Amino acid sequence: MIQKNPYITGNPVGNGPAFIGRADVLREVLNVLKHPEENAIVLVGQRRIGKTSVLHELKANLPKEGAYHPIYFDLQDKSQWPLEQLLQALANKISDELQQNSPDFENDPDNTFDQWLQNLLNDLSQDKSLVLLLDEFDVIDDSGNKQAGTTFFPYLRQLLDLDHQRLNFVFVTGRKINDLSQIVLELFKGITNKQVSLLNRDDTVKLIRLSEQNKTLNWQNKAIEKIGQLTNGHPYLTQHLCSRVWNNICAIPQKTQPPTATLKEVEKVIKSGDILKASDNALEWLWGALPAAERLIASLLANAGDAKPMNHEQFKEGLQKKGVQIITSDLQEAPKKLVDI
Ligand SMILES: Nc1ncnc2c1ncn2[C@@H]1O[C@H](COP(=O)(O)OP(=O)(O)OP(=O)(O)O)[C@@H](O)[C@H]1O
Ligand SMILES: [Mg+2]
Repeated sequence: MIQKNPYITGNPVGNGPAFIGRADVLREVLNVLKHPEENAIVLVGQRRIGKTSVLHELKANLPKEGAYHPIYFDLQDKSQWPLEQLLQALANKISDELQQNSPDFENDPDNTFDQWLQNLLNDLSQDKSLVLLLDEFDVIDDSGNKQAGTTFFPYLRQLLDLDHQRLNFVFVTGRKINDLSQIVLELFKGITNKQVSLLNRDDTVKLIRLSEQNKTLNWQNKAIEKIGQLTNGHPYLTQHLCSRVWNNICAIPQKTQPPTATLKEVEKVIKSGDILKASDNALEWLWGALPAAERLIASLLANAGDAKPMNHEQFKEGLQKKGVQIITSDLQEAPKKLVDI
């Protein structure tokens, strides 16, 4: 029988057995959807923390929670699109999902997106509502893209007020709320936001034990502890490490079935440096997304070595050694912000 590695590294994992936890985030989204006056929520999280997976999970499961039509729309690669093209693509996506014909705004200039959407909402049966799941929202907030700043965000502000009952929004952004431009802050004013963060301890253990569900690999407690310590519940890094251990053990026929992953096996993967090489891409990504202050603090931590904690005074000392004399508010905040990465 061919054994299947249950760990997924890279693609979003929503709506599958590899999706673990996030009960708090899903609950918060439902609270907003059920609230008579609220109709939008912003999910904030660092790169690779699992934002798109949450949207995929919502897409699959919201219809089981109530009369919702979730529509997933990814803004990645669309940052330079003019407003008309963006709205046409969104209308096409909504029409597809509702199995209706798409409008053609270019050849029918009397039919504007908001009129079309208003008619569509009016035609929905009484209790139904649309939930727009807008991924990578912050790519539009690109200072080089004047188009979005001057047209898309004010337009969205109008849409937010179009129909509180039947039109809901879940925005996903990789940037901290305070790091967004003034125009987006305006848009998000008064909207609930929720951090997509590290997995808690129980969920991290559940994720590691995924291979026990498909009966391919058991885990020794000490191995689980070590992984938890190393990844601190970061879902991508946990999946990655477990996947490597699984490959090492399950590729070779074992005496006992299922075999058990020991602490030694985990350490072997770490020592081989394989895990770092394979995660290179993701780590470069994480590094690339860090503002200057957080990079400086991260490099201090890396120099301190093997997951050693540092207190405020040690940070200050380390920074001074690097020639930094003034501790700005960015630097003061950086250690706190890095906790989520
Ligand atoms: N809830 C989860 N349970 C288990 N693993 C997860 C979960 N969420 C994310 N992962 C892991 O993290 C990886 C990245 O997930 P995802 O693409 O959802 O993150 P993201 O925050 O959208 O990333 P990006 O910033 O690149 O858009 C997945 O391939 C998977 O390995
Ligand atoms: Mg994503």
